[in-house]
Parts: sequence; structure tokens; C-alpha cells
Amino acid sequence: MSDFEHVFETPPPGAAADWTIPQDWRDYTEVEHRTWSTLYARQMQVLPGRACDAFMRGLDALPLDGGIPDLALLNEKLNALTGWTVVCVPGLVPDEVFFDHLAHRRFPSGQFIRKPDQLDYLQEPDIFHDVFGHVPMLTDPDFAAYMEAYGKGGQRAASLGMLPNLARLYWYTVEFGLMREGEGLRIYGAGILSSATESVFCLEDPSPNRLGFDLERVMKTLYRIDDFQQVYFVIDSLEQLKRETLQDFGPIYTRLKGAETIAIDAVLPTDQVFTRGTQAYAAKGGRF
Ligand code: PHE
Ligand code: FE
Repeated sequence: MSDFEHVFETPPPGAAADWTIPQDWRDYTEVEHRTWSTLYARQMQVLPGRACDAFMRGLDALPLDGGIPDLALLNEKLNALTGWTVVCVPGLVPDEVFFDHLAHRRFPSGQFIRKPDQLDYLQEPDIFHDVFGHVPMLTDPDFAAYMEAYGKGGQRAASLGMLPNLARLYWYTVEFGLMREGEGLRIYGAGILSSATESVFCLEDPSPNRLGFDLERVMKTLYRIDDFQQVYFVIDSLEQLKRETLQDFGPIYTRLKGAETIAIDAVLPTDQVFTRGTQAYAAKGGRF
């Protein structure tokens, strides 16, 4: 997204015009497959009971267990379910390239996997974050529709100068979203689902605020990319997310044009408060 430095301006050597590269699944080493399996096993220790049902069902429906998945095999299953496929890209791609892939139900994934000494934190999304974190949710029809609509909406937001607002929506839903489910809160955001520590922190730590999802409010709220979030927004259902974002954002963008941003730790009188956080973690300086 627009918050990251792009490494390239045009497709690098070896990449196609749409920036895709081959996965070259046969070239992954034993160590790389083991890194995937270690991360997978760790997430399975924490996600049951914390991840939403749609994610757990997606995990079951896809071949993600047993080393780095061969995307050709994964895509057969995924495409049959919702029409999505996963394509490999050489790291972060320009916004318009990213949006175009999403608009056509192609999810861009990093091809590389993190090094064994980077299990807990890395700057750039790797294939574990992109595929384990994002792809199970794409088996859900409502979420699948939301992501396609987001790609189309991105093209429009870019032309209106509203990308920072749309990036906040992505951040607080696709990456760090929580959902009300059954008795409590569950995770559907991929940035959390691929992190063992944040999967626990986001639900159990007293520090962050947990607030009801409010589309316009979210699009005004600042976020941080370098540490655990200070606020999580809670949707009622994936259907709600799809329904609210299907509306025409034209009038919303008009209102947002002159609006001030909202601080990351703010709790407003209009917020539906699930947890008013202590913010103790951030006050200590954070960083895990
Ligand atoms: N409905 C938005 C618009 O009119 C597009 C959009 C859909 C944006 C889903 C984000 C997510 O621009
Ligand atoms: Fe991501």
C-alpha cells in the first residue's frame, strides 16, 4: 500500500508487465519449507478459538499444511470456491498494479519466505503472511466480494486523491480486523492471523482499544505499521463489511476531504466501546 516505499517503479527483470513472477515452487529449500511448517504449527497453537470461523474453514479447505504450498495446486481449490487465484510478485507493487489484481480476483503474494531468525517480525510481507494470513479468508464468498470491490474502489480513490483514506480501511479490516462471533471477538485480519504474538495481544491484552466498526470513522483514523495496533475495529459480520462498503463512497469522500484525522488512541463519544484500552503497552514504548 501507499505507506511503504516501493522498491521498483517498473516491473523488475524477470517480471511480466502485470508484475507477476513464477513461484518456482521446486526451488524452495528444505530450510524454507521447514520455516513455513514451524510458523504454521505455531499459529495452530493460538488460532483455534481466536480466529473467526471463515478463516478456520478456509484453512481446512486449502492445502496449506506441509511446507510452502505449491500455488498451482492451491489455486485449483481456491478458484473452484470463489474464483480467486494467488499470483506471485517481487515484493510490494505500485498501488494501481495491486488494485488491478484485486479487481480481477487475483491476490498478489510475495514469493520469498522469511529467514529462520525473522520468525516474529519482518518489514515486508512474505509468502507466509500473504498466503497463510490472507488466502483462507478468500474462500468466504462475502469476503471474496469485498476484496474484489476494494480493488475496484482503489482505482477510483486514486483518481480522487483519497488513497490515504482507503488505505486506512484496508488496514483496519483486511489486515487488523476483528469480528463479533458467538460469545466474543474473533480475528479475521491477516496481519494478526500470521502473527502468534499479536493473535493473543489483540484479543487479550488490556492495552488496545476495541471499538465498533464505523466506516467513515475508520477512514479518518491514523495507524501504525511498526508495532502492535493501539486500536482494533470490530465488525458484526463479513456480510456487514460487504454491505457497508458496497455503497457509493462519493458522498463519503466529499465529507472526508475537509475532515481532520483521528488520533490512534482516541475514544470518541460516538464510538461503540468493546474495550477501553489502558494503552499501557504503547506508553511503555511497545516493540513486543
Ligand atoms: N463502494 C466504494 C466506492 O464507491 C468502493 C469500495 C468497495 C471501496 C469496497 C472499498 C471496499 O468507491
Ligand atoms: Fe497483508
